[in-house]
Amino acid sequence: MKTYLRILSYARPFRSFLPFFVITTVLGIVFEILNLSFVAPVLKILFSQEVTETVVSSPFPEFAFSKEYISSVGEWFKNYLVSFSDKTEALKMICLVLIASVFLANLFTFLSRFILAFVKAKMIKNIRLAMYDKITELHLGYYSNEKRGDLMSRMTNDVKEVETSIIDTLNAIIKEPITVIFTFIVLYYLSPQLLLFSLLVLPLSGLVIWRITRMLRKKAKQGQDYLGRILNTIDETLGGIKIIYSFNAKAYFSKRFTHENVKYERALRSMDYKKGLASPVSQVMGVGVFCMVLYYGGTLVLKENYMPPENFLVFVLLFANVISPLKSMFSVVANIQRGLIAGERIFSVLDAEVKVKDAENAITIESFNDSISLENVSFSYGDKKVLDNISLTIKKGKTVALVGASGGGKSTIINLIPRFYDVNEGTIKIDGNNVKDISLHSLREQIGIVTQDSILFNDTIYNNIVFGNETATEEQVIAAAKIANAHDFVVASEYGYQTFVGDNGMKLSGGQKQRLCIARAVLKNPPIMLLDEATSALDTESEKLVQEALNQLMQNRTSIVVAHRLSTIQNADEIVVINNGKIIEQGTHKELMENPSNAAYRKLIAIQKIDE
Ligand SMILES: Nc1ncnc2c1ncn2[C@@H]1O[C@H](COP(=O)(O)OP(=O)(O)OP(=O)(O)O)[C@@H](O)[C@H]1O
Ligand SMILES: [Mg+2]
Repeated sequence: MKTYLRILSYARPFRSFLPFFVITTVLGIVFEILNLSFVAPVLKILFSQEVTETVVSSPFPEFAFSKEYISSVGEWFKNYLVSFSDKTEALKMICLVLIASVFLANLFTFLSRFILAFVKAKMIKNIRLAMYDKITELHLGYYSNEKRGDLMSRMTNDVKEVETSIIDTLNAIIKEPITVIFTFIVLYYLSPQLLLFSLLVLPLSGLVIWRITRMLRKKAKQGQDYLGRILNTIDETLGGIKIIYSFNAKAYFSKRFTHENVKYERALRSMDYKKGLASPVSQVMGVGVFCMVLYYGGTLVLKENYMPPENFLVFVLLFANVISPLKSMFSVVANIQRGLIAGERIFSVLDAEVKVKDAENAITIESFNDSISLENVSFSYGDKKVLDNISLTIKKGKTVALVGASGGGKSTIINLIPRFYDVNEGTIKIDGNNVKDISLHSLREQIGIVTQDSILFNDTIYNNIVFGNETATEEQVIAAAKIANAHDFVVASEYGYQTFVGDNGMKLSGGQKQRLCIARAVLKNPPIMLLDEATSALDTESEKLVQEALNQLMQNRTSIVVAHRLSTIQNADEIVVINNGKIIEQGTHKELMENPSNAAYRKLIAIQKIDE
C-alpha cells in the first residue's frame, strides 16, 4: 500500500485535474447506462398494440434529486413515445436521442481518458527523471555492487511496468467501481430480488479468476529479474565487443546469453499460458453466471409477471455489461501487484543511501591557496583494506608523483581527493578544510581529472572537450586543444571539431583519446590536477605528444600524478612509492636514487630504463 501511494504521489502536481477526471468519468458512465436502457422503449414501441392517447398531455415531471424523478422521467419518455400514432416516427425519435446519448457517452469517456493520458505521461516522465537524477548522485561504491544492466532494466522496464500496471489501472480503479455502483443502483430499481440472486452467483466466477491472477503475479516477478540479467549481458557484450572478438569468446558469451534468454523465455511462456487460460476460463464462468441470471429472471417474468419484459431485458443487458467492469476490478488487483513489484525495484534505487554527500553546513571554497594533505588515511573497498595509514602533504604549485606496483592503491588515492569515495579513517584536507566539510560542487570545481582509461562520450570532439562547461568559447576550446596537442589531428579529421568520436571514442587512437581528455581538463582550468597516467603503451611519437600535453597541463598547477613514464617521474617535485597500500619510500628523484636503502624505487627505475 505504501508503495502504491508513493507511486501515486507522483501525480500530486497534477491533482487539479482530478475533479475533471471524476466528473467526465461519471458522466460517461451515466450516458453509457442510458444507452442500454433505450432498449426498453424500443421494445415497448415495437410490441405495444394500442396507442394511449391519454398520456400525450402528461406534463414533464418536475425536477427533484430522487429515484422517483428518474423513474418518472423514464415513464414519461416511454409514454411520450408510445403516444405517437405513427410508430416509425417514434422510432426515428428514439434513434436521434440514442445517437445524442451515445455521442455524449463517448465524448465524456474520451475526455476522461485524455486527462488520464496527460497525467500519466507526466508522472512517468517524472519518475524516470527522479531515477536519472539519483543515479548521477550516488557514490561510486554503489556501482561496484549493482549491475548496470539491472539498473537499466529498472529505469526502463520497471518504469514501463508501473505505467501499465498501476497508472493505466487508475482508470479502472476509479471508473469501474463507479460503473458497478451506478449499474447496481439501476438494477436494484429494476428488480431487487433479481439483483440479490445475481450477487449470490457472481462470486463463483470471481474466485476462479482470482486464483489464476495470483499465479500470474509470481511469474511476472521472475520474468522481470531475468530480463535484467539479459540486459546485463547485452551491456557487457557491447562494452567489450573488441575483447570478445579477439579472444574468440563469442561462443562463451553466446552461451551465457542463450542461457539467460531461455530462462526468460520460460518465464514469459508460462506467464502467457496462464494469461491465455485466464481469458477463456473467465468467459465461460461469466457466461455461466449470466445464464443463471437469465434463467432465474426469465422464469420470474414468465411465471409471475414479475416485471415488464422490456425491463427484464434492460436488466439482463446491464447485468451482462457489469460483468466486464467487475472482472477488470479483480484483474486490476493482480496487475497492481505486478506494478508494485516494479515500483519496489524502482524505489530501492531511489532510496539507496547517498553515502557521499554535502555535509549539513558545507562550506564553499572559491580557490586553492596552500596545500592538500592526507592525514593517516585508511580506506577499504568493502572488507578489503587498500590504503593503510597514508600521510602526505602536497604544497601548492608542486607536482607529486605516485609510483609503485600495480594494485598498490595509487588510483584509489586519486579517487579519495574529489570524494568519489570517503575515507574510512583519517582525513583529507584542502587548505586545512576537511574535504567532507566542503560542498561537493565547489570541491570538484577546484579539481581536474584525467583518468587512467580515457573516457569519451558518443558526441562530437567539440562537445567532448567542452563537456558541460557552458561558458567556454570556441577560441578557448581550440586553445585547450592546442595545449593538449590535439588541435592538429582534430582539424585533420573529417568534420574537424564536429567529428563524432563513436561509442567511448572508438573512432580514435589511444593517444588521441588521451589528448582529448587532457584538453578537457585544460579547458576546465582548475588549480588542482589529478592525473592517472594511462598504463597502455603508446608509440614513441604519440607518447611524446601526450607527454608534452601532460607537461603543459601540469604547469603552474598543483598536481598529483600516478606516474608510469620515467620522464613524468623525474620531473616531479616529490616521488611517493606506494606498495600494498603503504608509503614505502619518499623523496625527490635524486634523493631516492642516492640513498641505497630505497631499493624499491631503484628497481622501478631500472625497469623503466630498460623500457625506454
Ligand atoms: N571498485 C573497487 N572495488 C573493490 N576493489 C577495488 C576497486 N577498485 C580497486 N580495487 C582494489 O583496490 C586495490 C588498489 O587498486 P588501485 O586501482 O588503487 O591500484 P593502482 O595502484 O592504481 O594500480 P594500477 O597501477 O594497476 O593502476 C586493488 O587491489 C584493486 O583490486
Ligand atoms: Mg591505477
